[in-house]
Formats: sequence, structure tokens, C-alpha cells
Amino acid sequence: MARVALVTGGTRGIGRAIVQRLKADGMKVAAGYSGNDAAAESCARDLGVMVVKGNVGNFADCQQAAEAVRAELGPIDVLVNNAGITRDGVFHRMNAEQWSEVIRVNMDSLFNMTRQVIDGMREREWGRIINISSINGQKGQIGQTNYSAAKAGMIGFTKALALENAKKGVTVNAIAPGYIDTEMVQAVPEKVLESIIAGIPVGRLGRGDEIADMVAFLAGEHAGYVTGSTLSLNGGQYMAG
Ligand code: CAA
Repeated sequence: MARVALVTGGTRGIGRAIVQRLKADGMKVAAGYSGNDAAAESCARDLGVMVVKGNVGNFADCQQAAEAVRAELGPIDVLVNNAGITRDGVFHRMNAEQWSEVIRVNMDSLFNMTRQVIDGMREREWGRIINISSINGQKGQIGQTNYSAAKAGMIGFTKALALENAKKGVTVNAIAPGYIDTEMVQAVPEKVLESIIAGIPVGRLGRGDEIADMVAFLAGEHAGYVTGSTLSLNGGQYMAG
């Protein structure tokens, strides 16, 4: 039986690459999205996957999204918590909205979405939860106190949930991508981005498919002994211990 995967923020950027890869691996895949209907339509059309609309920062939306996926594809075996936003700005000029939007979408979403699938995974004694964190949750980044806090929080969540579910066949891991060539990274001011790339030993931005390859491994049948890990995929920019 094909596994069922839900990838939040799955219609663009890293998420879309993950959707494409899991689908190619034979899974039944749904891509979550919140606002960009055009990107969702092209994702559904080009990749032949289900798309489901909702705000991961909202518990009721997540309930509805998970229900829709279950109704169309079956019980959810693989959850990729990928949806994320930036509201960059130095802390001494950051407002409460910039702070709380990022915490809501990047971190509250872990509760909102994972809570919808954990009971079923525990009952069936098989599950894969993969959280897309960031290099900036590991090393910090000027202009990203909100984002760095949320992405670091994701790593703690990953470890605690991994412990709780280790005996139930449910693995929980985080991936910490570096700077990947997506719209989010292209929005970084040009001069800043140039200096960031200069600090990447591999000498270039990463690609979404490089993150998707690691997700595919963690989501697969052979990864049952990997849990609670944070895997850094950053071209050598930050070598976490
Ligand atoms: N050390 C200390 N402070 C510094 C600094 C440095 N090297 N460089 C900048 N700053 C601070 C200063 O405090 C300064 O504030 P004051 O003017 O009050 O002194 C301020 O930054 C500079 O202000 P600017 O007017 O030059 O810049 P800004 O406020 O318009 O923008 C920024 C600053 C928000 C940090 C901007 O440079 C930026 O967006 N940088 C990119 C941040 C980044 O890497 N984001 C990642 C997005 S991609 C992503 O998130 C994906 C992923 O997971 C990797």
C-alpha cells in the first residue's frame, strides 16, 4: 500500500520539491498551502497531487486540512511540517505583529498540524514526522530573532516528540537547510545575499531537490532507526556538532 504524505507549504519552494520527490517515490501526496491559488493550481496540474488550502497557524484549518486528506487519500503516514514565513527586521525595530506572525506560522503550526496526525500514527505503529527547521535556528541571524527563535524551537519539539513516540514506530526528525534557492531567499537584499553566499564553503545556494532527497530518506521504510535528529544541509556554512 502506498504511504500517504502531507507536506505543508507544499506548492512552492522547498515544499514543492519535497512533494515532487515523494510522489516520484510512489507515495500519495497532498500539498498544503495558504494563499497563492495560482501556485497551488499549477502544482496540482503539473505534479498530479492533491492540494489543500488552510493556514497552519490556525488549529481549525489544520483539522479541516487533515480531514480532507484522509477522506481523499487515506490515513496520513508522513507529515512534513515545511510551511514557514519570514518577517525580517532587527529586534530593536521589530513590532509585535512581526514577532507573533512568525511564531504562529513557523512554530504554533507544529502543534496545530502534528496534533491532527499523531493519534493515527501511534495506533498504526508507523509514522514519519519531518520538521523543516533552518540553519538560522542553529546559528542565529541578524534580522531574524523571531525566525531563529521559531526554528530553534522546532528542534526542541522534534527531540521531545521523538522520545514520546520512539516505541510506537513513529520517528520525528528535523532538517536544517541552509540558504536554498527559493523566493524566500531571493527576497534577501542583494548585497546581503552576496556576502552570505561568499560564506558558503560549497560556493552556491542549495537546491530544493537536495533537501527533498533527505526528506525522502527520512520518510522511507529504511529510516526507522533515525529519530530525534537534526540534519544540517547547508553547503558547509555552519557545522553543527
Ligand atoms: N552587526 C550588528 N548589527 C548589524 C549588523 C552587524 N553586522 N548588520 C546590520 N546590523 C543591524 C544594525 O543594528 C542596524 O541597526 P541601526 O540602524 O539601528 O544601527 C541595522 O542592522 C542595519 O539597518 P539597515 O537599515 O542597514 O538594514 P535594515 O534594517 O533595512 O535591514 C536586515 C536589516 C533586516 C538584517 C536586512 O539586512 C536583512 O533582511 N538581512 C537578511 C536577513 C536574512 O538572512 N534573512 C534570511 C531570509 S531567508 C530564510 O530565512 C531561509 C532560511 O531559513 C535560511
